[in-house]
Amino acid sequence: MRLTSPMSLVMSMSILGISTIQGAAAKCSDGLVNVVFNTGHGGYTKQRWEKIHSASNWLTFNFGLEDKQIPMLGNDNKSVQQAIDVVNGPNPPDFMLTFNEPDNLYGSNPRKVVLHPQEAADLIKPLLHKRGNHTKFIAPVPAFDKLNWLPEFFGNCSCQDSFSAYNVHVYNKTVEEAKIHINASHKRWNDKPLWITEIAPRQDGVCPNPIPWDHSTKFMQEIYAWGQKTEWIHKIFWNSANEINCTDTNVAASFLLDFKNNSTPLLDPFNKLTCS
Ligand SMILES: *[C@@H]1O[C@H](CO)[C@@H](O)[C@H](O)[C@H]1NC(C)=O
Ligand SMILES: *[C@@H]1O[C@H](CO)[C@@H](O)[C@H](O)[C@H]1NC(C)=O
Ligand SMILES: *[C@@H]1O[C@H](CO)[C@@H](O)[C@H](O)[C@H]1NC(C)=O
Ligand SMILES: *[C@@H]1O[C@H](CO)[C@@H](O)[C@H](O)[C@H]1NC(C)=O
Ligand SMILES: *[C@@H]1O[C@H](CO)[C@@H](O)[C@H](O)[C@H]1NC(C)=O
Ligand SMILES: *[C@@H]1O[C@H](CO)[C@@H](O)[C@H](O)[C@H]1NC(C)=O
Ligand SMILES: *[C@@H]1O[C@H](CO)[C@@H](O)[C@H](O)[C@H]1NC(C)=O
Repeated sequence: MRLTSPMSLVMSMSILGISTIQGAAAKCSDGLVNVVFNTGHGGYTKQRWEKIHSASNWLTFNFGLEDKQIPMLGNDNKSVQQAIDVVNGPNPPDFMLTFNEPDNLYGSNPRKVVLHPQEAADLIKPLLHKRGNHTKFIAPVPAFDKLNWLPEFFGNCSCQDSFSAYNVHVYNKTVEEAKIHINASHKRWNDKPLWITEIAPRQDGVCPNPIPWDHSTKFMQEIYAWGQKTEWIHKIFWNSANEINCTDTNVAASFLLDFKNNSTPLLDPFNKLTCS
């Protein structure tokens, strides 16, 4: 994994359970609290998911349709056809994520795109023309939201209005920096709500020892409380539900469950988030 990379997604890759939160003072708004399962060792399993009581939804880097999963559209024609079948089928999902970091082929240096804006526009058009009447689509999420990938894509497909929310990935070191980053993103795209589909406090170096759990806990509590207050942030996916390689500085201090499925010091505070 490339350590300087701002994203960890690329790893190869509801209901606010009021009834399931025993006695917790759950005040975060419905749907706000969610998690990311990275793929590979320790990825999503039903048993792991069931330990994360506070989360409404989860995502990982594929087009799965498991309970509470929000599917992510793949980057090829076959994936688009599959998505068309699903949104027009008997059980269309409520939401579908579209392209994940199409502006950055993970590990490329100099940066290469996964899809050029025009390619992405051509690829997604058939889906947007045959979108069913239930599923809401979330805009592609660039790795580098200051680049022009997204405006070019919207220009090339004339499809900005086809999406219900924008999407951003956030790996700043402090919660203050994260808020500035998120504010800037919303300022650029302010006509719709925002989903944060990856967020964690980035670490200075690889494999922090000891892991600064207190810092991560505070970051988590503050970003959810702030996110709720904005009202334009609708969903925040904490990355990560599961431990991955500690060399990934984005998520080396944010996992809720470790390699052995044991909870880390973050799981309990995550399950008790009150957004206050
Ligand atoms: C999708 O299929 C079209 C032709 O049907 C082709 O031109 C295009 O390159 C394909 N896109 C991808 C990303 O494979
Ligand atoms: C869309 O909704 C209409 C009625 O509201 C229904 O008859 C039709 O089958 C729906 N189409 C799809 C693709 O779900
Ligand atoms: C659309 O795609 C073309 C390349 O096919 C590109 O030159 C252009 O800048 C793109 N952007 C917009 C907004 O049309
Ligand atoms: C937050 O992180 C992004 C991506 O690494 C970076 O471009 C941006 O400058 C950071 N923002 C702040 C306020 O530090
Ligand atoms: C984010 O923007 C809002 C105004 O939209 C402002 O009140 C707030 O102070 C900003 N937060 C940060 C951390 O910049
Ligand atoms: C993490 O990744 C590095 C480099 O890819 C590898 O050498 C190391 O064995 C991995 N560690 C674990 C715990 O998977
Ligand atoms: C962790 O849980 C999964 C099922 O969710 C199981 O397959 C795996 O063996 C468990 N790992 C350990 C180390 O107990």
